Formats: sequence, structure tokens, C-alpha cells
Amino acid sequence: MMSPSPNYKFPPGPSLGLRGWWQGPLSGADPLTYFTGIVREYGDFVGLRVLNFRILLVNHPDAIEEVLVKHPRKFMKGRVLKANKRVFGKGLLTSEGDFWLRQRRLAQPAFHRARIAGYASTMVEYTERLLHEWQDGEERDIHKEMMRLTLQIVGKTLFDADVERDAQDVGKSLELLLHLGANFRRTVFVPHWLPTPTNLRLDRAIRQIEKVLYRIIAEKRSTGRDAGDLLSMLLAAQDEDGSRMTDKQLRDEAITLFLAGHETTANTLSWTWWLLAQNPAVEAKLHDELAAVLVGRAPSIDDLPKLVYTNHIITESMRLYPPAWGTARTAIEDVEIAGYSVPKNSGVSFAQWTVHRDPRWYDAPDEFRPERWEDDLLKRLPRFAYFPFGGGPRQCIGNSFALMEAAMVLATIAQQYRFRLVQGHPVVPLASITLRPRHGIRAVLEARPASTRVAVGANGS
Ligand code: HEM
Repeated sequence: MMSPSPNYKFPPGPSLGLRGWWQGPLSGADPLTYFTGIVREYGDFVGLRVLNFRILLVNHPDAIEEVLVKHPRKFMKGRVLKANKRVFGKGLLTSEGDFWLRQRRLAQPAFHRARIAGYASTMVEYTERLLHEWQDGEERDIHKEMMRLTLQIVGKTLFDADVERDAQDVGKSLELLLHLGANFRRTVFVPHWLPTPTNLRLDRAIRQIEKVLYRIIAEKRSTGRDAGDLLSMLLAAQDEDGSRMTDKQLRDEAITLFLAGHETTANTLSWTWWLLAQNPAVEAKLHDELAAVLVGRAPSIDDLPKLVYTNHIITESMRLYPPAWGTARTAIEDVEIAGYSVPKNSGVSFAQWTVHRDPRWYDAPDEFRPERWEDDLLKRLPRFAYFPFGGGPRQCIGNSFALMEAAMVLATIAQQYRFRLVQGHPVVPLASITLRPRHGIRAVLEARPASTRVAVGANGS
């Protein structure tokens, strides 16, 4: 238990008590509105208490930097992620200390730019496959489509597995894991070993995914072939002492990558399409850039640096709708952040959602303006005024992978289709582990005139 010293310094905050939390974030009420409200009321440092558990909510980029960059070893991941250990095991997202460092070192080469550059063509190929299924004038849930696509891309690039045949089962199970696992109240108050109906469903979903993963791992072990995918690399990776990962360890890393790498990127794309559909001037500028740079052919990795506006659109979309909308840590020793005491076992939280919409860093913060990223805005901002991928040693390992994927998919689809939103369909952000559209995004597909593009493979590509 914490025993704050006499000089213990904790900022004021809403007087919550368990009842307040129950009515607020733990009740499933919208945490985005909740955090926005308390930050507006209390400022950069807010003291939250639930019974005797304290959380320092910080909303200033410099303080966030202190947590993530200056003192990363004094914290471990927050309780909600920890409560999902049954799902993630000791994968990269949730492991700690020397064990995490060893795994991160083993996995890092698989995410080097040169290695992931090879995935660009797969990303485009799978996107084109999806487009073959689409028809002008039909109505679809864009978010569902993006989820399907990113699942297939992660499956192929990271496991060299065509998850098509498993996609339905795996997709459903992953979704269940994410959304049951993300329920604050459940994960904090219901022990995972209790045979409640939800826990039993969760268990079945985990077993379903494990079945597929262990099958893929066994296939890879038996062929011993490096197909260029991440799993092959992890299988082959050896520590300095010559040891390799066990099947259980590979399972933990694989399920982590599936979960961390699939919905986050799908969300980025879904929110981007939604924003574009409401901002025709931005959309037109995107089309102009694609026409000028690609002249109708499919994008490749070499086009990325030239797709400047496309990248600004993605940056701006992740500012307004950061797929990882909030971050939490628990102190493993007493530490001071921005002059406030954070005793051992207490929490520190911050929300990309509130920082990214702070008028101190962004003019008209709620507006979608990709142009704001021109003239190197990023370099002029405090480092943690924009941090969709976190920062410090625990920064997202899939950062470049995700940005490349978002750009490749956006450029491929936007050349061929635009979306008209279905009137009356509510598009509402749901802050679970990731920030997704609660009811999906329903839109009518509108094929763009053929004159804006030429067949893939033309133009000398
Ligand atoms: C737009 C897409 C993505 C966003 C916004 C995102 C965001 C993040 C954030 C904020 C963290 C740090 C969490 C923390 O500090 O507590 C993180 C960690 C991580 N992400 Fe991503 N991510 C994305 C895509 C991906 C992809 C594509 C992969 C893998 C293919 C991936 C794999 C991971 C892993 C393994 C970690 C844990 C890293 C570690 O602790 O060593 N992410 N991600």
C-alpha cells in the first residue's frame, strides 16, 4: 500500500470516490468526454483517486516526456493492459524489464525499414484484391472493410500466412478479445479465472486464435524456410546465449502483433476516409497529388517520399483520432513528475486525445487541416504534443510499418473510389483499447472516372 510522505504533493482533481468512478470512466460512459472535461477544468495536472489508488493525469507534453523518456524504468504498463495477460501473455506490449528488452532486440530487425519496404507490394496487392470485390454504387461499412484488409495484410506480412481461410474465425475472435478485454470495469474487477459467461467466451476466442497460430508456427518450424515474414525471423532469432523462443513465446508475440498491428491501422484508415468524405477540398487535393505522382499506376515504396500531402492527411487524421487514444503507467518506485509525487504503485495517465486537441499546440484544434503539417510543424512542436505512437523505449515497434501501410492503402483506394457517407448513420468514436467507430462507417462506394487512372502495370511499372 502507498504511504505518501509528509511532503507528498498531489494536484487537485475531481472528488470521485468509487461512486464517481462508477459514474464516470468505469461505467463505460464515454472516457473521451470525461477526460476532456476534467482537463479543461483542472489543467495540466489532475489528481484522481479511486479508494486508495491514485492516478496523476498529466496533460503537458514535457511531463509526458518525463514519464516515457526520462524515467521509463520507474514505470510498468498500466492495469488494464496487465489485466489482459491471459491474451497477450509475455508479448512485447505487456512484458517488462530485461525480458521485454531481450524480446524487443530480437524483434527489432524485422521492423527495419529495409525489411518492411518489401511488404509494400503485398499491401498494395491485398488492397487491389479488395477493390475487385467492390462495385460502384454499393453500400458498405468502410470500417469493416478496413478491418478485413489490415488483418489480411498483417497475416501475410508478419506470418506469411494466407489468413483468408481463417480470416472469419480469427477476425471474430480478435474482435471479441479486443472488446471484451478493453472493458475497464470487467478487467479491473472480474478475475479472469472466474467462469463467468464472458470469461468463457474470451477463453474460447483465445483458444481459437491459438489453434491457428500454433498451426502456423508448426508449419514454419517444419519447413525451416525464411519466407521474409516476421514470424520466420523470430523463429530463427537467437539470443547471445544461443537460446531461441519457445512456441509459447512465439504465440505471445504473434498474438500481440496481430492485435497491436491490425485494428490500430484499420482505425487510422477508417477515420481518414470519414474525414475525407466530409472535406471535399482536401479530398480533391489528394486526388491531384495522386494523379501527379502516380499517373494512374499502383503506388510503390519509392513513391512514399513524394506523396507529401497524402502523408499529411494521415498525420492529421491520427492527430484528431489517435488509434491509441490514451496511455497508462504504474510506478514501480517512488518518482517525481513535474514536481508532483508519484508514489510506488500509483498510476500516471495521459491521453493523446486531449493533448492532440490542445489549442496551445494547434490552431482550430478540432478542424481537419492537413495543411497545418506543412513547414515542419512537427519540428516546432514540443516532442509530446503529437505522439500517436507513444515514445521512449516503449515506442510502437510497428510505427513505420503502419505509416507505410496507411499510405499504400490510401493511395491505392483513393485512385479508384471515393465514399459518400450514408446520411443518418451515426459515426461515433468508441474509446476501448483503441479508438474505433462504434457503429462502423456506412458509405456508398463511388467509382472514380477511369480517366483519373490507368490499369495497374501501365506507365512502365
Ligand atoms: C496506426 C497504427 C498504430 C498505432 C497508432 C500504434 C500505437 C502504439 C502505441 C501508442 C504504442 C505504445 C503503447 C505504450 O506506450 O503503452 C504501441 C506499441 C506497440 N505497437 Fe503499435 N501502433 C500502431 C501500429 C502497430 C503495428 C502495425 C504493429 C505491428 C505490426 C504494432 C506493434 C506494436 C507493439 C509490438 C508495441 C509494443 C512495443 C514495446 O513495448 O516494445 N503497432 N503502438
